[in-house]
Amino acid sequence: MSILLNRDFHKDIAKIVFRDKSEFSIKIGPFEGDEQGRGEQSSSVIGLLVNGHVKITNDVLSLYPNLRVVSNHGVGIEHIDVQSATDRGILVFNTPDVLTGATADIALALLLSSARRVVDGDRISKSPSTSFFDSYYFGSEVHETTVGVCGFGRIGQAIGRRCALGFDMRLLYHNRRRVSEEIEKETGNAIYFPQLEDMLKECDFVVVAAPATPETRNMFSLPQFKAMKPTAHFINISRGSLVNQEDLAEALENHLIAGAGLDVTEPEPLPRDHRLLKCPNLTITPHVGSATFSTRLKMAKLAMANLNRGLSGESMGDGSIEAVNKEAVVATLIKMKQ
Ligand code: 8YV
Repeated sequence: MSILLNRDFHKDIAKIVFRDKSEFSIKIGPFEGDEQGRGEQSSSVIGLLVNGHVKITNDVLSLYPNLRVVSNHGVGIEHIDVQSATDRGILVFNTPDVLTGATADIALALLLSSARRVVDGDRISKSPSTSFFDSYYFGSEVHETTVGVCGFGRIGQAIGRRCALGFDMRLLYHNRRRVSEEIEKETGNAIYFPQLEDMLKECDFVVVAAPATPETRNMFSLPQFKAMKPTAHFINISRGSLVNQEDLAEALENHLIAGAGLDVTEPEPLPRDHRLLKCPNLTITPHVGSATFSTRLKMAKLAMANLNRGLSGESMGDGSIEAVNKEAVVATLIKMKQ
């Protein structure tokens, strides 16, 4: 019986997470049917460990007749066909919570960099041609301004908390549903906006932390950028699919907004000649939201724990580790037995 991991973890993380002897052998290599087109087609494979955003389609799932668990190393699971997995009685796990802090931190890093022109300031400060510092090299104020967080789940709330409690910002949020009054209070008196555009008008900073779903695709397009203040900054740490990138480029080129900070794009990386990359008011990082050693170690450990518990059947009765489709899989398995 084996587990297939499509791409090895960082070597120091692999050393730790694969240290304990497991009853399953871990094979490293691409899944059959992924972009690299090669892989392990085998009835011995009972678990997939998914590292990165390789697509786990119904076709990929069908190559492994005895597959029982798909364990994703990451919280976002838009690349996994959860419905097909459920129909096949396969549990799907992700790694929430352990990456919340690091991902919220990168949102603040981008927000501060965009507002205070940190990256361009670094370039100017190091440039051999710089002979004096312009004392009117203004950025945008951050503290005591207004931030709007779009998507107020675990990561959105952590971003809100940092902004409201750390930077005395007024905190607004847009979400499918209003969160409890307790959470609103604890995150820094967050104010709910059922309509996105109503919130955008008031924001100095807009931070996107909503998941990628068919409903959120292109959620930020020209009308949303037009609704924002020309002095506002737009930050996305979720997925590139939530943003119409041509429209964002237009908004940045024509100063409909002051700046943007992106940790995610579609595709990643963007084509080298993409017009967004020519915008001086764009700060961009290479999808590093969870990329610290300690966070990635926690993610890898959790992904392994999920896999082991899923395979041992423990996840079915144990509330501490949750498959994203547990209830539905239980129902499928009961149906299959009948
Ligand atoms: C990583 C992420 O890019 O958790 C997510 O959804 O986007 C990131 O943590 C990735 O999943 C690492 O495999």
